[in-house]
Amino acid sequence: MGIKILKDKGYEVDVNPQDKMLDQKQLISYLKKKSYDVVLTLLTDKIDRKVFQAAPTVRMFANYATGFDNIDITEAKKLGITVTNAPAISTSEAVAEHTIAMILAMFTRINEGDRFIRKGKYKGWSAMNLIGSNFAGKTLGLIGAGRIGEKVAFYAKNLGMKIVYTDMKPSDQINKEYNATFFPTPEEVLRYADVVSLHVPLLESTRHLINETRLKLMKPTSFLVNTSRGPVVDEKALEKALKNKVIAGAALDVFEFEPKVVSGLLKLNNTILTPHIASASMEARIEMVQVATGNIIDFLEGRTPKNILTS
Ligand code: GLV
Repeated sequence: MGIKILKDKGYEVDVNPQDKMLDQKQLISYLKKKSYDVVLTLLTDKIDRKVFQAAPTVRMFANYATGFDNIDITEAKKLGITVTNAPAISTSEAVAEHTIAMILAMFTRINEGDRFIRKGKYKGWSAMNLIGSNFAGKTLGLIGAGRIGEKVAFYAKNLGMKIVYTDMKPSDQINKEYNATFFPTPEEVLRYADVVSLHVPLLESTRHLINETRLKLMKPTSFLVNTSRGPVVDEKALEKALKNKVIAGAALDVFEFEPKVVSGLLKLNNTILTPHIASASMEARIEMVQVATGNIIDFLEGRTPKNILTS
């Protein structure tokens, strides 16, 4: 679809012939084959000084993702290279819906029940088998209440949950619409919430935001959900916290060493793990293509792209 949009506009488009992730060496060798003007990148493409130097004709990198921690924005700015990302309403909805699905699955133990049956362990009904807990009336703690965090608050409120959150500053709209309570620090959210969901970008200041010390602030009955970026959580510390029952469980769509997963997490029953698919709804993917190609066309036609990060 994106290729057609660009070709219909008269642009020449080359596509990575391998339908798989490229490592940086492979990416550089492809980029060296021609003098490209614009490169559409995926969140798995590491774009830094090495790439900028190897492809000096490229004036724009258009990231096909909401997050842009894969691109060295500071270096791009120094070199006057334009960088855009592709946030979309359906993407925020998809990520928020996946987050809610994970929260509900943690409380209701759906995944554990599914595994239990498949392993042939179901020998008959018993009142206390796989006891979960109601999510209605529980408190959801949001660390980050931007577009995605706010959407999670919307769904959670409608499911009967209470909302506490932290961000750079309180939002009157979130406080009012979701009857939410703002806390100035993540510590208070971690202490208070029954489930903590992360919705911050990956920055130096948010790397390992959830570490051993902060995990210990959570209640032993609480869950952690991460659909943001893997390195926001110290995964080894999380594994330890889960093993030692410091917290009750974790649902992760992103991983610190993606696509690798700290092996201990795979063995734990109180984890739900999905392969970075929170934004993978058809609606989101289509809108992301429209947004990313829209940015490229704006740039090539001399307009300022809507989602410009630096230029
Ligand atoms: C997905 O993780 C995205 O940033 O779009």
